[in-house]
Parts: sequence; C-alpha cells; structure tokens
Amino acid sequence: MLEDIQKHINILESLQIRSADDLEKFRIEYVSKNGVVNRLFQEFKSLPPEQKRIIGKYLNDLKQKAEKIWKENKDKFVFSTQENKIVDLTCPPAPLMLGSHHPVSIVRKEIIEIFTRIGYVVSDGPEIEDDWHVFTALNFPLEHPARDMQDTFFITRNPDILLRTHTSSVQIRVMETQKPPIRIIIPGRVYRNETISARSHCFFHQIEGLYIDKKVSFADLKQNLLYFSQELFGKETKIRLRPSYFPFTEPSAEMDVSCMICNGEGCPICKYSGWVEILGCGMVDPNVLENCKINSKIYSGFAFGLGIERITNLKFRIKDIRLFFENDLRFLQQFISVI
Ligand code: PHE
Repeated sequence: MLEDIQKHINILESLQIRSADDLEKFRIEYVSKNGVVNRLFQEFKSLPPEQKRIIGKYLNDLKQKAEKIWKENKDKFVFSTQENKIVDLTCPPAPLMLGSHHPVSIVRKEIIEIFTRIGYVVSDGPEIEDDWHVFTALNFPLEHPARDMQDTFFITRNPDILLRTHTSSVQIRVMETQKPPIRIIIPGRVYRNETISARSHCFFHQIEGLYIDKKVSFADLKQNLLYFSQELFGKETKIRLRPSYFPFTEPSAEMDVSCMICNGEGCPICKYSGWVEILGCGMVDPNVLENCKINSKIYSGFAFGLGIERITNLKFRIKDIRLFFENDLRFLQQFISVI
C-alpha cells in the first residue's frame, strides 16, 4: 500500500493542470467519491495499528497534495473565460421557457381581430352591474325567468346589484353615453348561477357586437356574420339563421355554422345534423333604443352575442369546459405553439 501511495504522490508532484479537461480528469481520479484518495482511506481502515502509524503520515500527505491541487485550480477553471473555452461570453443565452396563451385568450384575440378589420372598436363595462343595465333597459319583462335567483348571482340582499349574466349590459352603457353611429365589440366575463359540469360553468366569456346607424338592416347583420364565420372557420363555411327569441332584439335569431369537423356531413360534434350553433343575434328592439334615448324612427341596428368557450371548444376540440378554469399545466402547455 505504501508503494501505491508513494506512486500517487509522485504523480501529483509532477502533475500539470492546463485545462478544464485536465482538472475534470484529476477530480474524477483523485478527489471524487470513488477516487484514489477515498479508496486508499477505505483500505487504510483495515490495517493493523502499527502499520497505520507509518502509512497514515504518507496517506495524509497524499490527501493534502490532492486537495491543494483541487483548491488551486478549481476557481481558475470553473470561472474561466474564453481562453479556456469553458465560458463563451459571446454565446447567446439559452432561450427562456415562455408561458403559453390561454386558449380562451387566443380565440378572443382572433375574434376581435376579425371584427376590427371591418370597423368595429372594442368597448367594455363593469362585471358588477345593476338591474337596469342587465335586464330592465334590455326590455326583459319583470317576470322573465332570467331574473330568477336561479340564473343570476346577486351580490347583496339588494336585488339591484348583481353579476352581469351577459355582455349585453354594455350595449346599454355605450348607447347611453355615445351617439350613433356605434359599431362596437365587447369581450368580457359573465356569470350565471349554473351547476358546474362538462358543458356549463358558473362563469364564462362572451363577445357582444352592436351596430347602430341609419338604415341598418337584417341583411347587414347576415353579411357581417357570414364574413366573421368564414374568417374564423374557413372560406367554405356556410351559415344559417333560425328564428329565436331574445327580449332585446326583434326579430331574433340563432346562428349555426356548417360543421367544421365533418364539413356538414354529420358527426358526433354536430350530432349528425351538419350544423353547430354558435351565437344569438337580432335587430335591436326599438324599445331598447328608446330606453337609451336613441330615436328609433331614425336609427336602427343589430346585435349579436357569442360564447368564447363554445367557439374554443369547436376550434381545439375540447370536450370539457372545466378544463379552461383549472389551470392544469398539462392542458395549458398544449397551446405553447399557438400564438
Ligand atoms: N345576450 C344573449 C345571451 O347571453 C346573446 C345575444 C346578444 C343575443 C345580442 C342577441 C343579441 O344569450
């Protein structure tokens, strides 16, 4: 064993460390957990006491020499510069991992971009609202079920203060304060007292559209919605309007687009009908214009409202609305590459 130690002392005495590679080799061979020094100390443990006395001195000498070499060179190379090719300061840094956009934000942005291309501007309004803006001014009869406690979250015991159940409330706020022509798009969060399930949630996002001017017709509404649908789902997309009812529009309609998954041929997403419903719309009821002090004999207009989650589900084929609000990284990271 003594010879072995002596041999290593000799090696270390003439050892020259010139590069980071040399240092790394030395580290592994001598000072790492399984290196020479530790190995010899292990062997040393089983020597008889009289030999320990003699050999211990040499072994300590070897250990000190190895430690000295390590100490002297460690900083030199680890914090070294270009010369030693350890750190290249001209090298661009590793790219930082960026987060992803939320799928609802991606689709909201896309929809807003489409409407701003044809002259709409973005507006917004409060989420905590009063009865006038959410219901009364929008021509909801007093006994209308949407006023029922089951649908609406009231904030206080005072039934006048509530969380808006749709973005249509902002139509009123804008018409009360601006003069026509008005051409706005209103993205925002809405709240409904509904049981949370794969298909519905107690809050979600809508985009509302409103266009008020002289001689605005149902044909204008249809053209705007056709343009929007083809921009969003592709040039081949068809639309169809089915008669419906909303208190604040007359006539009212629900709009379907041809199923973008099966191209209208029939699949589980469109329940084999070839069509999927995406929004509600209609001509603004004259009562609503008058409630906002806009002369309904001079002005007319249309409005529409869509649920962003619904469109996002269709675009990305997401089957459960709850995924949007859980913030599970495994879900969100799938949208990293989508701008
Ligand atoms: N506010 C309606 C809803 O939430 C949608 C809508 C908006 C319908 C504008 C017609 C016109 O269901």
